[in-house]
Amino acid sequence: MAAAEKSLEGRVAFVTGAARGQGRAHAVRLANEGADIIASDICAPVSNSVTYPPATSEDLAETVRAVEATGRKVLAREVDIRDLEAQQKLVADAVEQFGRLDVVVANAGVLSWGRIWELTPEQWDTVVDVNLNGTWRTIRATVPAMIEAGNGGSIIIVSSSAGVKATPGNAHYAASKHGLTALTNSLALEVGEFGIRVNSIHPYSIDTPMIEPEAMGALFAKHPSFLHSFAPMPYHRVTDGKSEGLAAFMAPEEVANVVAWLAGDGSSTLSGSQIAVDRGVMKY
Ligand SMILES: NC(=O)c1ccc[n+]([C@@H]2O[C@H](COP(=O)([O-])OP(=O)(O)OC[C@H]3O[C@@H](n4cnc5c(N)ncnc54)[C@H](O)[C@@H]3O)[C@@H](O)[C@H]2O)c1
Repeated sequence: MAAAEKSLEGRVAFVTGAARGQGRAHAVRLANEGADIIASDICAPVSNSVTYPPATSEDLAETVRAVEATGRKVLAREVDIRDLEAQQKLVADAVEQFGRLDVVVANAGVLSWGRIWELTPEQWDTVVDVNLNGTWRTIRATVPAMIEAGNGGSIIIVSSSAGVKATPGNAHYAASKHGLTALTNSLALEVGEFGIRVNSIHPYSIDTPMIEPEAMGALFAKHPSFLHSFAPMPYHRVTDGKSEGLAAFMAPEEVANVVAWLAGDGSSTLSGSQIAVDRGVMKY
């Protein structure tokens, strides 16, 4: 029997923040669906105001190994999404190598914590500059190549639950992620005529190095009313009739399943949509 056709066979996907966490999961999942991958990441500290450990060159090398293990090709490079020229150079090199660009997963992002009036300018500027301005630069660098290739495509913007709801303790992050929701929807209208779809995903509580239980615990101890906005997810996994109870986290690979669906033709009716990846928690 012939092997089932993979949903992204022959396509090329660009993933930012691909060294680890969700970005690595997206790169590997899209490769498993048949796409060649362009994987970029800063692989260095972004700012002193980001207190969890940075991704490293070894992390990106591990992503390369994992993508190659699927049998697909990968072009990986250490690039800061705040650097438009470096992203444009990467896209140009990728199109030369792979001949086309079909999928963009704008995933790179950073997080820090504090009340609005207590944030440092460095905290505010870093989060907005990476998450919002940097993602615009990813779009600026990639969309012309997608239009030029003429095959349509799918852009997935990684926002957050904080891109559609209030999150006390990280308003700068919420402002940047709400900005991405607006960018998603305007872009969806602008690139529709080229057969390109644009949707945002809004994950909640994914088990990656960005999540700092200590920093969050300290904030909630100081401001217990904030905890309400970071509730456990209401959906229980049930195995053999037994509930595993409320989940605190989801795995990056679970988010990657949603990204793979948005990247492929199975989601062809969706553009300008906000997809909650939160097991229902935002309905509280
Ligand atoms: N973990 C969660 O619970 C959660 C929830 C909602 C949304 N998100 C979003 O998901 C995305 C992925 O985060 P993650 O959870 O995998 O965390 P992560 O810290 O493991 O991964 C983020 C990656 O982005 C890279 N990066 C950061 N700034 C960059 C820059 N300026 N240029 C290039 N690369 C840069 C980092 O080096 C890192 O490899 C982020 O946009 C994040 O805001 C995460």
